[in-house]
Amino acid sequence: MSKEFYQVEFSTYNSESELDQNDNELLTQAKAAALKAYAPYSTFKVGAAVRLANGKIVVGNNQENAAYPSGLCAERVALFYANSIYPDVAPVAIAITAISDNVPIDEPITPCGACRQVMAEFEKKGGNNLKVIMQGQKGPVLITNSMKMLLPFSFADDILLKYISR
Ligand code: THU
Repeated sequence: MSKEFYQVEFSTYNSESELDQNDNELLTQAKAAALKAYAPYSTFKVGAAVRLANGKIVVGNNQENAAYPSGLCAERVALFYANSIYPDVAPVAIAITAISDNVPIDEPITPCGACRQVMAEFEKKGGNNLKVIMQGQKGPVLITNSMKMLLPFSFADDILLKYISR
């Protein structure tokens, strides 16, 4: 038996004003997208903005449904949309934020597990690191420079392709 440790590297900024211009802009776009979320059931409005290697920014927000599991998170809406318009362009950064109708969110919003899986796949497909910028409506900003920090031991195509028959 051997024991190993996985190190997670992340940066914390006191507020968006400490970010570089590109990251701040991406977060601003995510916040604007969150305002347009369709979240009548949870009232938890999430926004995501994806910066692509060609400089384009694609945004998305959570889309809920009366049949609850039919809805989709903001991160996946944004990434699937980005990949549908620019299938050959790598995502280089994604900003994630949320607005609550009840209490102002003052802590970073981190992506759910299913979104992490999708983010990890697009990072691998793109061939560069995907930076993840996370904030609430205000307060500290959490940044990781790769999905590897948010999803160790992820499931990926190499394992799948090794074992399925084609
Ligand atoms: N949600 C997201 O959009 N992204 C996440 O990473 C976590 C949760 C959405 C799904 C649902 O519409 C609402 O937030 C409450 O879970």
